[in-house]
Amino acid sequence: VPHASPEPPPHPETLLVTAGRPIREPGAALAPPVQPSVTFVQGGPDGYGRDDVPGARPLEAALGALEGGTAVAFSSGMAAAAAVLDREPLGSVVGIVDPAYSGVHRHLRRLHSAGRITVRTLDPDDLDYRGLDLLWLETIGNPMVQAVDLVEVLAAARAAGAVTVVDNTLATPLRRRPLLDGADIVVHSATKLIGGHADLLLGTVVTDETRAEDYRDTRRVLGSVPSPWDCWLALRGLRTLAVRLDRAEATARLLAHRLNQHPQVEAVHYPGFGSVLAIELPTADRADAVCATTRLWVPATSLGGDESTVERRRRWPSESRAVPESLLRLSVGLEHPEDLWTDLAAALD
Ligand SMILES: Cc1ncc(COP(=O)(O)O)c(C=O)c1O
Repeated sequence: VPHASPEPPPHPETLLVTAGRPIREPGAALAPPVQPSVTFVQGGPDGYGRDDVPGARPLEAALGALEGGTAVAFSSGMAAAAAVLDREPLGSVVGIVDPAYSGVHRHLRRLHSAGRITVRTLDPDDLDYRGLDLLWLETIGNPMVQAVDLVEVLAAARAAGAVTVVDNTLATPLRRRPLLDGADIVVHSATKLIGGHADLLLGTVVTDETRAEDYRDTRRVLGSVPSPWDCWLALRGLRTLAVRLDRAEATARLLAHRLNQHPQVEAVHYPGFGSVLAIELPTADRADAVCATTRLWVPATSLGGDESTVERRRRWPSESRAVPESLLRLSVGLEHPEDLWTDLAAALD
């Protein structure tokens, strides 16, 4: 699929809509086609689906343009994360700002216990990165929803000589563009806000062309390729990200404000942007009772979908011990804010 980046460089909201389009010419389709074939007649640019993944190219063009790098799409966010972490040389020291998504912690623990790398878990305020080969952090941490000062953290990591990987899933390129702040590698679970409808699994790495080619090679040999259907759906989701995020974020802000005044709520975690917040209740039992009582909020894992979800993250044994037992993560969707508030307040009461 040919695709053209519009000139001059437009705002991210415009790129969301225009990047990765087929070239504009008489008779051309506006939306890219889905390409299900996995093998191609010899002699052309594409040969085999696991090697070339042509169905991912429009999405990769769009995400690359948005983040300011070269994007490589994978079958899930974890496949993207593993593509980066598995390339760390034997004996590397990898730091991770905790809490961060528990799946990444789990993979790091596996690499550590296999003797491949040494993992250091870092407090968000700890900017001493001496001795690290690689630093992993999230722009907005999952599930405590803490925002980091990216510029400060990236400068400290650079001074310590560490390669930086920023998981930008919760912020999206509309709120943070870590590569422009000096990060080396950006990772996304496009399963979340980019897809936006809880109906696909997909991940991406965005980085410089040299690293991107190495990650393409990982995808080629391990077969962690995204399906063309999911790539097509993710790109379709990306087109409406700006309006979905604006709406969900405005609701999240309103809910954070009201929850701050609710007598059952001991703490509200919301960095002021994004569509995810977290609250602490007096006990884990009460948090479970809220999940069991809401009618509109769905008790379900994951985040960033059109439907609002609520989850007590410590129900997972793999969740970080830094996350309180009574913490509920709320992923705000697109329902009317007053309906969401009425439902949540009733469950809290
Ligand atoms: C911040 C973050 N990064 C990565 C992942 C992993 O993504 P996936 O579930 O698409 O493999 C998740 C999943 O919840 C996540 O929340």
